[in-house]
Amino acid sequence: MRVRFARRVIAWQRRHGRHDLPWQGTRDPYLVWLSEIMLQQTQVTAVIPYFERFRARLPTIEALARADLNEVLGLWAGLGYYSRARNLHRAARMVVDTPDGVFPSDRERIETLPGIGRSTAAAIAAFAFGRREAILDGNVKRVFARHFGIEGFPGEQKVERKLWAIAERELPEADVEAYTQGLMDLGATLCTRSRPDCARCPVAASCIASRDDRVAMLPAPRPKKARPVRRTLMLVFMAGDQVLLEQRPTSGIWGGLWSFPEAEDEGEAHAVCLNRIGRVPPAMNRLPEVKHGFTHFQLEIVPVLISVGGAPGRVADANGRWLDLRDAAIAPIPVPVKRILESLQQAGEQAPLRPRTP
Ligand code: ADE
Repeated sequence: MRVRFARRVIAWQRRHGRHDLPWQGTRDPYLVWLSEIMLQQTQVTAVIPYFERFRARLPTIEALARADLNEVLGLWAGLGYYSRARNLHRAARMVVDTPDGVFPSDRERIETLPGIGRSTAAAIAAFAFGRREAILDGNVKRVFARHFGIEGFPGEQKVERKLWAIAERELPEADVEAYTQGLMDLGATLCTRSRPDCARCPVAASCIASRDDRVAMLPAPRPKKARPVRRTLMLVFMAGDQVLLEQRPTSGIWGGLWSFPEAEDEGEAHAVCLNRIGRVPPAMNRLPEVKHGFTHFQLEIVPVLISVGGAPGRVADANGRWLDLRDAAIAPIPVPVKRILESLQQAGEQAPLRPRTP
């Protein structure tokens, strides 16, 4: 009989998987949790320096719970998907406030914490507490969809249910940590979205997608659906090479991140201008539009450059700060704001916005 799927994944992980990542070799649930959250939408190589910095600055869940949200967002700046940082902070406070104050050890209770779905809870339970729990993150969905020939978009409930059933069915009785890590490593290193390396794959011999030459077709992509479009003006106030950024409210999109003041139209832009710098805009120049896709809508951003002269004007809004372009670009900011700032930086390098003093 063919060696079971899990045994082949485990044997491969032991010989060829990843073994020296900074969060491996610890069973500290705080560090395992932190690494799993950072790895949710970000690749290992990008995560490593952030993980090391975060651990050095906030080494325990108590330290994280005591920290100010702005410090946490600062440690996250550049990693993106900042709701992960806000949820991490909120969950740390929740855990520390429970009667025993320790991180829960079973998957069901871990899953009740903000920002932790079933798969992440299972990974934490397996890596930190040696529990026998099945994972199913994006990479693993791809491995299963290909190997077991599962049709349909994995984000669809019906398809996801099938994949969870496979995840449960294939889970081995023992060596769950090596198996779990092996699935992740397979998805990240061999069974990649484009140009998978089937020649090295330990389960290629039983892979349905490989047999049917459908590796490039599975998993099926998200069905294209027209998403509603929202438009906004982002008001880029510039004084010399300083820009005005404002911290957004904690709830809503980009909660707690720094962004430009916004307006729906030019009339509102005038009002915002009066409010922020105490006068009508000297000139408003539209910059190239930036599009940003959310799951449920598409945001079309028209950046409007408002140059206000050499010295920063007044800021009526207490959440506002004038920042050098360079500092603004590395603050906790949403992706499209980063893109706008980078294009301003590039424009400034080609034609300095203000003569530099020697
Ligand atoms: N992706 C998600 N979790 C991971 C982990 N523990 N190691 C490597 N990649 C991962």
